[in-house]
Amino acid sequence: MRYLIGIDIGTSGTKTVLFDENGKNIRQKTVEYPMSQPKNGWAEQDPDDWYNAVLETLKYVSEGVEGISGIGFSGQMHGLVMLDGDGRVIRPSIIWCDQRTGKECEEITERVGKERLVEITANPALTGFTASKILWVRNNEPENYKKCKHILLPKDYIRYRLTGEFATDVSDASGMQLLDVAKRDWSDEVLEKLDIDKSLLARVYESCEVTGYVKNIGILEGVPVVAGAGDNAAAAVGSGTVTAGKAFTTIGTSGVVYAHTDAPVIDKAGRVHTFCCAVPNKWHVMGVTQGAGLSLKWFRSNFAPELSYKEIDKIAEGVSIGADKLLYLPYLMGERTPHLDPNARGTFVGISAIHEKKHFLRAVMEGVSYSLRDCLEVLYEMGIPVSEMLAVGGGGTSAFWRRMLCDLYNMQTKTIVAGEGACLGAAILAGVGTGVYPSVEEACDSIISYSDPEIPSESAHAEYEKSYAVYRNVYKGLKDTFSALSEL
Ligand code: XUL
Repeated sequence: MRYLIGIDIGTSGTKTVLFDENGKNIRQKTVEYPMSQPKNGWAEQDPDDWYNAVLETLKYVSEGVEGISGIGFSGQMHGLVMLDGDGRVIRPSIIWCDQRTGKECEEITERVGKERLVEITANPALTGFTASKILWVRNNEPENYKKCKHILLPKDYIRYRLTGEFATDVSDASGMQLLDVAKRDWSDEVLEKLDIDKSLLARVYESCEVTGYVKNIGILEGVPVVAGAGDNAAAAVGSGTVTAGKAFTTIGTSGVVYAHTDAPVIDKAGRVHTFCCAVPNKWHVMGVTQGAGLSLKWFRSNFAPELSYKEIDKIAEGVSIGADKLLYLPYLMGERTPHLDPNARGTFVGISAIHEKKHFLRAVMEGVSYSLRDCLEVLYEMGIPVSEMLAVGGGGTSAFWRRMLCDLYNMQTKTIVAGEGACLGAAILAGVGTGVYPSVEEACDSIISYSDPEIPSESAHAEYEKSYAVYRNVYKGLKDTFSALSEL
């Protein structure tokens, strides 16, 4: 029997899973770490926390196992890791949900030109993406920028520590805003206009290509490591979302509605991202809401630490649709789809003396779902076919949350039987790269199985529509307030 390892370097922790070649989860381990918020809207992590978590989980899952064919990564996207000439980390990583780079986004747009930027990188300048973070360090910490000899994404830093290679993959590189997304390689034009030296960047590979071998770190020496993918592209592989028409919704720290496309399709307003996907020569479009699982985690740790997520589901399920006229906007870390507003913030609207904790819990889950519906609406507007919807990620494991999405979307919704999404995707990529499977699509066909679909209820959908219609209007009324608050 051959074995494969998938490592998912997430925001709340790293999960590593050992699979056999039939995709069966043999052993898994998760190690959590913190996210620091030095200022309102900033978010950083220590790359060594990721590395220590990877080592601990890798040791656990691989102990005593012979026949490990390959390792693949899934990684939180967009984070900036800067290394000096000796490969040492220069400053904490500025991660995907950090919102400090508004000015640098203006600078990028000015230097490259709004239309040209979208033509090449398939996206407008966004605070979440890596390019603006690089410029922020250059503008605000010139001494750190001077020391910087290598720029890596989170999972690619781990690759460097495991193999000594500077490499990335097309899906994750798409989120740096330095890639020509149609050509699947760095854009010399963008790099030149932003005055970023190409030698700082890693070599770009397709997701299932082998990028190096584990060096002498005491475990797994010589095992091939494939390029892997950004977490959403990896989850797409792990859920079989690898052909046109297929889509998934994931609720991790962020929330994403992801649709596979055979060619790059761009929203000119930039409300959703167009990136390369982990299937060679294919793309995807995804809407991102910044504070999905993060919203529930934030609410629980501050106001309901005594409750498990299972208990929260039960309590929220006991409240009727609409949370008795309580709405929640999940913009704790600003918002991407559809508002592209780093200043937006979380909001409860309609609090009454009748409301109890249970209403707030339901409102948080509904607000996150409404923001995901906003993402789906943009995909519809773009004419992207969505004939099959899956619910995956941490939130996807909640039958209650899946049901809510199914009713709100008014669409049959399935989930994957083995809920390992991103880790399984990473392991499949490792299997394709090391000859265990002939192709990503064939591996998905033979390995992944699905639950029976949830069927939407017409009456529940009608109820959700009423609250969603009000939700859609709240941001418009608060936009200026958010902006004024950010100026205080
Ligand atoms: C995608 C994004 C998030 C992170 C977090 O653009 O920023 O999904 O990858 O996991």
